[in-house]
Amino acid sequence: MKIQLLVVLLYVAAFFSCNPEKDHATYKIGFSQCVSGDAWRRAMHQEMYRELSFYPELSLEIKDAKGDNTTQIRQIRDFLDEGIDLLIVSPNESEPITPIVEEAFQNGIPVIVIDRKISSNLYTAYVGGDNYDVGHTAGQYIRNLLKGQGRVLEIWGLQGSSPAKERHRGLLKGFQDSEIEIVTSIKGEWEKDTAKNRLKQHLQSGTIPEFDLVFGHNDVMAIGAHEICKNLDIVQKKFIGVDALPGPYGGIQAVTDGILDATFLYPTGGDIAIEIAHKILSDEQVVKENILQTAVVDSTNIRIMKQQTDKIIDQQDNITRQKQRIDVQMEIYKNQRTFLFGFGLTLFVAIISLAYVFKSLREKQEINEELKNKNDEILQQKDKVLSLSKKAEEATQQKFDFFTNISHEFRTPLTLIQAPVEDLLANKDAAPFKPDLQLIRKNTMRLLRLVNQLMDLRKIDHAKMKVKAVEQELIPFLQDILNSFDKTAQKHDITLRLLADNRNLKVWYDPMMLDKVMFNLLSNAFKFTPIHGSVIVKVTEKPLSNKVCIRVEDTGSGMSPEDTSHVFDRFYQGETYSAAGSGIGLALSKELIELHHGEICLESTLGKGTSFEVVLQMGKAHFNESEMLNGTATQYFSEENIGILEEVTPKISRDTQEEKEQTLLIIEDDQQIRQYLCQQLSAHYNILEAENFEVGIAKALDKLPDLITCDLMLKQGSGFDIIKKLKDDIRTSHIPIIVITAKSSLDERIEGIKLGVDDYISKPFSFTLLLERIKTLLANRQKLREHYLHELPIEKSKSSGISTDKKFINAFNAIIEQHLSDPQFGVNTICDEIGLSRGQLYRKVKSMLGYSVNDYINRVRMKKAKRLLAENDTPIADIAFQVGFSTSAYFSTAFKNYFGSTPSEFRDQCKNS
Ligand code: FRU
Repeated sequence: MKIQLLVVLLYVAAFFSCNPEKDHATYKIGFSQCVSGDAWRRAMHQEMYRELSFYPELSLEIKDAKGDNTTQIRQIRDFLDEGIDLLIVSPNESEPITPIVEEAFQNGIPVIVIDRKISSNLYTAYVGGDNYDVGHTAGQYIRNLLKGQGRVLEIWGLQGSSPAKERHRGLLKGFQDSEIEIVTSIKGEWEKDTAKNRLKQHLQSGTIPEFDLVFGHNDVMAIGAHEICKNLDIVQKKFIGVDALPGPYGGIQAVTDGILDATFLYPTGGDIAIEIAHKILSDEQVVKENILQTAVVDSTNIRIMKQQTDKIIDQQDNITRQKQRIDVQMEIYKNQRTFLFGFGLTLFVAIISLAYVFKSLREKQEINEELKNKNDEILQQKDKVLSLSKKAEEATQQKFDFFTNISHEFRTPLTLIQAPVEDLLANKDAAPFKPDLQLIRKNTMRLLRLVNQLMDLRKIDHAKMKVKAVEQELIPFLQDILNSFDKTAQKHDITLRLLADNRNLKVWYDPMMLDKVMFNLLSNAFKFTPIHGSVIVKVTEKPLSNKVCIRVEDTGSGMSPEDTSHVFDRFYQGETYSAAGSGIGLALSKELIELHHGEICLESTLGKGTSFEVVLQMGKAHFNESEMLNGTATQYFSEENIGILEEVTPKISRDTQEEKEQTLLIIEDDQQIRQYLCQQLSAHYNILEAENFEVGIAKALDKLPDLITCDLMLKQGSGFDIIKKLKDDIRTSHIPIIVITAKSSLDERIEGIKLGVDDYISKPFSFTLLLERIKTLLANRQKLREHYLHELPIEKSKSSGISTDKKFINAFNAIIEQHLSDPQFGVNTICDEIGLSRGQLYRKVKSMLGYSVNDYINRVRMKKAKRLLAENDTPIADIAFQVGFSTSAYFSTAFKNYFGSTPSEFRDQCKNS
């Protein structure tokens, strides 16, 4: 910036230093001219200007007083006021003009008096002819011309002007001691017309004496007199003037033309006046009186004079032309110089700018270099930080992995602690240990819950926990959860209520998540509510904001404001709230509600109680596609809290005898769990066990058990692979499978359900729950079996997407229908067509339909026969043939065995009914 400013200043300074104005005048000269209309004065001005061209520093201004003293005084005053460096004055008349000239001089302004004089010597210099000498020379010339005797008519210049006075005086001197006398004086006042008019008046008046010669104080008045005389026929007179001005109307031409007999050179002195002015202004010494020489011009020298003056005029013209040329050249030169200066200056500025740019570029380069180095340094540091953070991340990951694995590890032994404890609690012989056993179970559950919550939080942190919302009735869902606390409420005489304005409220939520949240809130409420208190859950619709609010109010001990503000912080252990536990439950609840795009908040007053409020949005617009599930929620319901709820769930008694007919296959690679399951379940079922994937598949295919329990995380492979294999195989596809797993994410459940998994049990599981599930599934099998039987005869449709079991049943029925009239038709044909061994076919059909193959074929034959008998009058022998009996007698026996009456009896019954 500083450099740029400097350049601009230089530019401005240079501009002014080379400004052509410098060549303009620096001195102003004011010239007060008495008159300027005549040729002599014009010649004076020309000379001045010619001379000025040599001094460009001088300027000249001429003011013309037009022969008026007052005007001249005023004009000189103006000059003084305007400010001039030097005054040139040609006073109109001496006396009147003298004071103002003296004033100028006394004020320090150099004064050059020209041609006419003032009456004082207070001036710097005088330039002009010696008028006395002019008069005297003229007098002597006239004396010679008139040979010492004659009469002269004198025409005066302005009588108050010094040349007129001095010329007259000199003339008289020239006439001295002769017989020449001035007979008449005319006041011509230096002007031709004035002189002519006055002379004419005199001549015409006849009052003037005879004269021989006219002497005019200047040529123009003498020429004028000549004209008058000529006009009045006054002849043989001689005419003499002063000035001897060259040019067509000047005295030299008049002598040449014989108008004047003689004239006396009277130089204007204009050039000399300028030369002297220059000297004065240059502080050079000047001569005060600069008298110009006079000379006579008459017939004797007129030729040479004329030639000389013509030559002078030529030369002067030449000079003028030269000067004009010089002026033009000067102008060109000035323009060129200006251009050159401009160009030079621009070049200079450009060079400076270039230098500056170059410098800036270098600086920039250096800065860039520096920046690059710094950047490299930063990048290196960043790499270091990245590698450190990667290491830290790896370490954290390892920690988390360890944490997850250890959590998994915790779950299995906890299951193994929990299950026998439950058995012991169910055993009457262990009654004395019940309080201890209950304590063990309670703490096992607590630990399990903690582990689960920690794992949930971790999943949320890794964005692995996704909401899977379904639309579901809210009130029954909440009521179920509340019911689990009934027993606790009764035990502590705590009033537990669910209040809702609208009991048919359908809301989109993830049941597993909301279950965890509600369980946490209710657990907290119960923890802090003393005996005889109350825990009220209020469900309120907020139609305006399209929200639903679930409020859990307790009359517990309440929290301090400090605790209230931190209660949702992870691992927060408050003063009044530290008893709440690990500080995970509420933090997790908040995260889970936020995953629902909902809100959770609380109000609490120490000593009065706490109210938690969960606000969920109505509808499903706030969930994206991946956050919603199609279908009902019940199939995804969590069993996580079942163990805890079992405190209030009546135990299911074992029934060992009837169910021993059924066989279970237990695929579990953890020996302890497998043994435990086998031991527990053997009381109810025949047990097959498999410790790995291969054995599991082999045993399933070989024995076709009635139900399979399978661990999802087998060391040799994913449990899903076994499930897929079993469900895709026509031989085993009908067998219900319960997955028992420590991994219990919803995604895995969905994947399992897609594959055809019939149920899920999370580790740690409650044996009672498992047994109930097994029973339910087996009972469902029975229902399905009935369904298949009722579906007979064969369902023709073969739509895609139907289950393998259905396909099997369809194929099985189609084969029977096709061969029904064949008396030889039996198990072998079906085995061949369906691709199963006899044993496999037997077990599958038995399992699915509850009949042996032959019994089932017979059943189909009998049912068809019954329908044919009832529908038309086809002969019985034909019907027997159509349903695969070779003889009607055998058909009758079989029909009677099956329905209790012979075919003909049955037909009669149909007809009678
Ligand atoms: C011009 C003039 C001249 C004369 C001079 C005297 O104005 O009249 O003819 O010589 O002035 O001042």
